[in-house]
Amino acid sequence: MQDDGYFDARIAARYDESSAEMFDPEVIEPAVDLLAELAGNGRALELAIGTGRIALPLAARGVPVHGIELSKAMAAKLREKPGADEIGVTIGDFTTTTVEGTFTVAYLVFNTINNVTTQSGQVAAFRNVAAHLEPGGCFVIEVGIPELRRLPPGETFHVFDVSETHWGLDEYDVANQGLISHHFTLVGDELERVSVPFRYVWPAELDLMAELAGMRLRDRWEGWKGEPFTSESRRHVSVWEKPGE
Ligand SMILES: C[S@@+](CC[C@H](N)C(=O)[O-])C[C@H]1O[C@@H](n2cnc3c(N)ncnc32)[C@H](O)[C@@H]1O
Repeated sequence: MQDDGYFDARIAARYDESSAEMFDPEVIEPAVDLLAELAGNGRALELAIGTGRIALPLAARGVPVHGIELSKAMAAKLREKPGADEIGVTIGDFTTTTVEGTFTVAYLVFNTINNVTTQSGQVAAFRNVAAHLEPGGCFVIEVGIPELRRLPPGETFHVFDVSETHWGLDEYDVANQGLISHHFTLVGDELERVSVPFRYVWPAELDLMAELAGMRLRDRWEGWKGEPFTSESRRHVSVWEKPGE
């Protein structure tokens, strides 16, 4: 692993293309609607801003956005895009990096809380967010529900994607709440392998992390349009609030 973490120049170069379904306006617009509403007249802080998938359309709505991002290569891709001049980016780890000013909303989407592979690191992310929020401000996380019900007894691998050009396997370490996502991608005639470690986390544990950071759960939905969260939901969008003064 280099300074850019798992999102080095090679990954950053094809991030938008390889995540194309997440750039679909039907995916982005409901997220931006909710974040703009929560931002109100204040500022938004994106943890792990990446190439600006959400930040750019949110800024285009008139919300001042600042991002924290570990990977200089990902931030450089954001910088190439129209509208990027409006967005400030601080290079650093979102569990510890601080930025100027306060925010009415902070958000961490696309499963990226799981990129922090320790419980203490995930708690630190909540505490860091709380320190940046104005009283009454909100923290929004979008993350998948751990897919343990898809793992047969005794097995450690789950195939999560099979296509003509990409094969994805999750390797579970249940005792440590860890998984490694192995991606095998056909690039030209070459098969490239990328293996990224994650710490999966249940909604209830996130609620406890929020409490440790002085925030409380305000809403939990299955998706950005307020779909009900149920036992069958495969992901959630959760909103925790820092108490007002
Ligand atoms: C799946 S991408 C998501 C990017 C963007 N938020 C989006 O929705 O398209 C994950 C991003 O998280 C960044 N990242 C991972 N761990 C991080 C950390 N501890 N601090 C800051 N950025 C981090 C990676 O460099 C990468 O850009």
